Amino acid sequence: MTKRQPKSPRKEAAAEAVAEVANIGSPTDPKVAKAIATWFKSAARDLPWRHVEPKATARDPYRSLVSEIMLQQTQVSRVLEHFEPFLEKFPTVHALAQADEHDVLAAWTGLGYYRRARSLHAAAKRIVDVHKGSVPSDVEQLMDLPGVGRYTAGAIASIVFGKEEPIVDGNVVRVLFRIHGVDRPADDARGVDWAWEESKRMVALAPPGHLNEGLMELGATVCTPSSPNCDECPVRAWCKAHAAGTQNQIPGAKGAARKREQWHVCVIVRDVNLQFLMERRTVGTLWQGLWQVPTIEQDGPWSETKANLKEMAQRIIDRLSVGAVLTGTMREPFDFETTACTVRFRVFEAKVTSIAPKCSVATWHAPFEAKNLPLSSPMKKLLGVQDAPSSRQR
Ligand code: ADE
Repeated sequence: MTKRQPKSPRKEAAAEAVAEVANIGSPTDPKVAKAIATWFKSAARDLPWRHVEPKATARDPYRSLVSEIMLQQTQVSRVLEHFEPFLEKFPTVHALAQADEHDVLAAWTGLGYYRRARSLHAAAKRIVDVHKGSVPSDVEQLMDLPGVGRYTAGAIASIVFGKEEPIVDGNVVRVLFRIHGVDRPADDARGVDWAWEESKRMVALAPPGHLNEGLMELGATVCTPSSPNCDECPVRAWCKAHAAGTQNQIPGAKGAARKREQWHVCVIVRDVNLQFLMERRTVGTLWQGLWQVPTIEQDGPWSETKANLKEMAQRIIDRLSVGAVLTGTMREPFDFETTACTVRFRVFEAKVTSIAPKCSVATWHAPFEAKNLPLSSPMKKLLGVQDAPSSRQR
């Protein structure tokens, strides 16, 4: 019989990330997807890129490409001012491909982010050269066009060609987080991964174009960032944020996701007399010059696993060279918030079976000395040191 290989720490971290993403929200009720798609048909704003030519059965792919690129980072009201004039100058993909760059940039005036104009111009040339003048319907091919990312490709593929392709942008994240009561910042990486998974599941449950544009429309007109209009919402009956009254708190502020994270893996090493090893924190770090039990730091983002935490604890022990061995499992984890950083303390214990063996990188201290050492608040907590009552306290 072959022995099963243990998973590598990297694979284990990836598996835990997948599990975390999968557990963020339960799959959408098919009724929700249908309700959004049906609502869109009656509530859609009359926007020029949504018009279908009299004899056509679907929207014009070139007009959709132009509108989706214009709508990147730009408000609908601003795009409305420039969309038709741009199409009058460049009515077809061939006209745009043959145009002088100077004229394309001039027609883009007022829309800002001119890189998009250059990309759209290059995309038109590529469509003519590689795709015989037809905007591709395949997401991979769309994403090969300059300036077309996953969202824009998904929007064109689903809205114009009816493909089951997901879309996620800030509006969609907010709508999905609220429906599922996901209390995470809008730019939380795992939360956004989950939104893509959820969007993929939903788009199979209703007509893709109506569902996707319905999600966009709901986010833009009803499920707005502040003061959402829940009375008008077609899915409020299923919305967890609405039920809990948390629609104004979800999603959390983006800044919260950007707070730095740092893991401090610590080992309390004791000898037979319960003396313990301490080292001083280096200059230029958080709590510089204060004392700590031997610690290794790991900057985030990082997916901790039991295996990689234990491996780091073992590295600390190896560095100390006192013949210590880990005892028991990791203590209950705790986090400490500073203004700029969340420090995640992961604490192990170890023992040596003699009295204070020589150590060149840390020093031994008797139990009663802990209270006299300059320690950070989390280090006091970790060592069970009580703060001395201040002289002004009664
Ligand atoms: N934002 C991005 N794509 C859009 C679309 N098709 N309609 C309205 N707003 C959008």
